[in-house]
Amino acid sequence: MASSSPTFLAILLLLLFFHFRPSSPLPLSVESPDEDVIVSWPKGTFTAGFRRVGENAYCFGVWFSQAEKSVVWMANRDLPVNGKRSSLSLLKNGNLVLSDAGQIDVWATNTLSPEPLELHLHDTGNLVLREQSNRSSVLWQSFNFPTDTLLPGQILTRFTKLVSSRSAGNHSSGFYQLFFDNDNVFRLLYEGPQVSSVYWPDPWLVSNNVGSGNGRSTYNSSKVAVLDDFGRFSASDHFDFKTIDYGLLLQRRLTLDYDGNVRIYSRKNGQEDWSITGQFKSQPCFIHGICGPYSICSYEQAIGRKCTCLEGFSWIDSQDWSLGCKPNFQPTCDNKTEYHFVPLDEVDFYGYDYGSSFSNYTYKQCEKLCLGLCECMGFQYTFAPENGLFWCYPKTQLLNGHRSPGFTGQIFLRRPKNSVQENHLQNNDGLVCSRNAEKLLERPYVKGQKNGSVKFMLWFAVGLGGFEVMCIFMVWCFLFRSSNHLVSADRQGYVLAAATGFRRYTYSELKQATKGFREEIGRGAGGTVYKGVLSDNRVAAIKKLHEFADQGESEFLTEVSIIGRLNHMNLIGMWGYCVEGKHRMLVYEYMENGSLANNLPSNSLDWSKRYNIAVGMAKGLAYLHEECLEWILHCDIKPQNILLDSDYQPKVADFGLSKPLNRNNLNNSSFSRIRGTRGYMAPEWVFNLQITSKVDVYSYGIVVLEMITGRSPMIGVQVTELGAESHNERLATWVREKRRKAPAGACWVEQIVDPTLGSDYDMKQMEILATVALECVEEEKDARPSMSQVVERLQSHEHDS
Ligand SMILES: *[C@@H]1O[C@H](CO)[C@@H](O)[C@H](O)[C@H]1NC(C)=O
Ligand SMILES: *[C@@H]1O[C@H](CO)[C@@H](O)[C@H](O)[C@H]1NC(C)=O
Ligand SMILES: *[C@@H]1O[C@H](CO)[C@@H](O)[C@H](O)[C@H]1NC(C)=O
Ligand SMILES: *[C@@H]1O[C@H](CO)[C@@H](O)[C@H](O)[C@H]1NC(C)=O
Ligand SMILES: *[C@@H]1O[C@H](CO)[C@@H](O)[C@H](O)[C@H]1NC(C)=O
Repeated sequence: MASSSPTFLAILLLLLFFHFRPSSPLPLSVESPDEDVIVSWPKGTFTAGFRRVGENAYCFGVWFSQAEKSVVWMANRDLPVNGKRSSLSLLKNGNLVLSDAGQIDVWATNTLSPEPLELHLHDTGNLVLREQSNRSSVLWQSFNFPTDTLLPGQILTRFTKLVSSRSAGNHSSGFYQLFFDNDNVFRLLYEGPQVSSVYWPDPWLVSNNVGSGNGRSTYNSSKVAVLDDFGRFSASDHFDFKTIDYGLLLQRRLTLDYDGNVRIYSRKNGQEDWSITGQFKSQPCFIHGICGPYSICSYEQAIGRKCTCLEGFSWIDSQDWSLGCKPNFQPTCDNKTEYHFVPLDEVDFYGYDYGSSFSNYTYKQCEKLCLGLCECMGFQYTFAPENGLFWCYPKTQLLNGHRSPGFTGQIFLRRPKNSVQENHLQNNDGLVCSRNAEKLLERPYVKGQKNGSVKFMLWFAVGLGGFEVMCIFMVWCFLFRSSNHLVSADRQGYVLAAATGFRRYTYSELKQATKGFREEIGRGAGGTVYKGVLSDNRVAAIKKLHEFADQGESEFLTEVSIIGRLNHMNLIGMWGYCVEGKHRMLVYEYMENGSLANNLPSNSLDWSKRYNIAVGMAKGLAYLHEECLEWILHCDIKPQNILLDSDYQPKVADFGLSKPLNRNNLNNSSFSRIRGTRGYMAPEWVFNLQITSKVDVYSYGIVVLEMITGRSPMIGVQVTELGAESHNERLATWVREKRRKAPAGACWVEQIVDPTLGSDYDMKQMEILATVALECVEEEKDARPSMSQVVERLQSHEHDS
């Protein structure tokens, strides 16, 4: 039946085309891994070829020729290929593909070229696909797709990151990542199966005035990091690291190891062994996720790192410590079970506290608090000498446990009274070796089937589609996950809070910081803003809220914790809050260049700054609208709420207290009263229509028109009898009219541009910005683009000039 159908014929033809792989310079076959290799030229330092990673499983990679264990790059680390009939081949169309058992393509460079190409391995370890006739025309290079290792001269950028291996014997993607975060800081992240958190730079290091943690800078957005041949590693956030043998010209590599530490290794040519000449984390037990939940990490120089299950718990997989331990008792939550608390000295569990911390609690009060919470697994009870109070931290999960001698707090574990007492310490020795043992990986060799052709086409399509989806997904993740990985992982916001130095301030602290609320720098509907200097010398903007004085403490804390979790370079950073009696205050980073409203009338904003501000604002709003767990509307976008840092990077301020919206509940009744500022308000407010994120899009459009034209939208706003302003869009109408009346062929934007800009602007960018702004101020909300669409369109023209 099928053989006569034309579709089958078409498939057959296609199949013939694909099966006949015209790829001569290099099919490298998996079946002769020792001969089918590419050796770097001219020195032969590196070798590329197939590596056995398990029983009948192979990956294509690059390694040091004289130190075969040190693989520096892999094409298909997560999808090993079969030991039979798999090959790496260069198709005639210029695509380099790795096929599994001659059937599915598991990896490809997705390159296209009419010219003949060649695959070349440089002595730097860079595998490049380039034109045969023009060697400087590189279509693809492995340096742009690092796995867990960075070689000297290989630049880590905003588009790349290192991902650790899963374990010593398993090269697939593991739990640790080294990357540039959205705030331009170079970080290490634990991205575990359940939770994720940043652990380097040390999350509890409070950011100082010009950066966060360890003197890192958030201002250099070039996001590049590179290791040189002499042992110096430097990143654009001012992180600078020198190995102990710095200055010698040696073979070097920087690897994010499977245990979450970054180590720089060096090796004299001709020696097999690498020596560690630098590492980013000196205390291995402070790496998150290293021992898994409900276990404790300890480290001794002689034996190295060790994980121990908590008393009453046992390993989930004794071969893999990172999975952690499970309780030997049945955790229950009823009134019948009686509990007791088992103390544990010199042990700290980082993160996952319930609520904020509770100060001035007696031990009994803390115990009661924990017993009252189903999910409380225990608590930390600590005396803080700096304020002479006892603090209580109920824990909902016991993660990142480590023994730290000298740690003053105690952990009290909650246990059912009748649970069978286990012997105190499980014997965990001996795991160290078995953990590194290679597990067998099944790669059964499937014989070509009779109707393999159709199947193959299907697989091919699925594979290709899957790869594309993966790429899109990866780009998406890279762009956005770094900004909200903490939000999704951590229920109480604690980790992020600590990572960004977010904390609670007392009224007297803030009074002192502002010298008795003397220097007022702004005033709005919600409150008054004062400049202050915190005890750690950071300059802050402290906002005293009027509106929220009658709001309950817990409600206020909920909202504050949501704002505190938002973290984007185009949103103003919040460092903390104060809630004491009737006082409600928010502590923000201080912006040196004031607001957009201050800067527009003066001549300080040239065209490129204005365009940059429009893009940044849009990014900040897009993050608020779509990328967070909660959907947050700003509802009061205006030049007064756009602040500018020392580089004139815009940061949206004053967001959050307008209540996050639930995506499923758009008719949120909390919007019963009109919010916003005359001239910038969308028609929906006036006509009492449904309020969506498009109200911010409208206000954004008005602000952008104001930046382009230099005209205030407030001129000509009329107030009707009812007191509501008639929805008068003078500015928008004026711009629209100018566009309509412009003679064909003439450039209409010339007619609207702020005269103070002169002719010093990019016509094409100006036109796109004005066009997008006009779409944003459409009457009909559905005709307006979303904030992320705005970002996309503006970004595609960012580098036009
Ligand atoms: C070789 O390729 C490079 C990069 O694509 C290009 O700039 C250069 O003009 C080419 N040279 C020749 C001789 O075609
Ligand atoms: C940003 O970092 C890069 C790389 O470290 C450096 O070349 C550049 O000068 C830095 N820019 C500023 C403004 O400091
Ligand atoms: C436990 O007791 C409290 C009051 O003592 C009661 O309100 C609650 O419903 C009880 N819970 C269960 C699960 O029995
Ligand atoms: C701590 O609590 C005790 C008793 O509730 C109270 O007398 C004391 O003033 C509190 N101390 C502080 C510093 O709040
Ligand atoms: C390597 O780890 C991955 C992810 O945990 C797992 O799926 C795979 O089976 C492991 N491979 C080997 C050879 O153990």
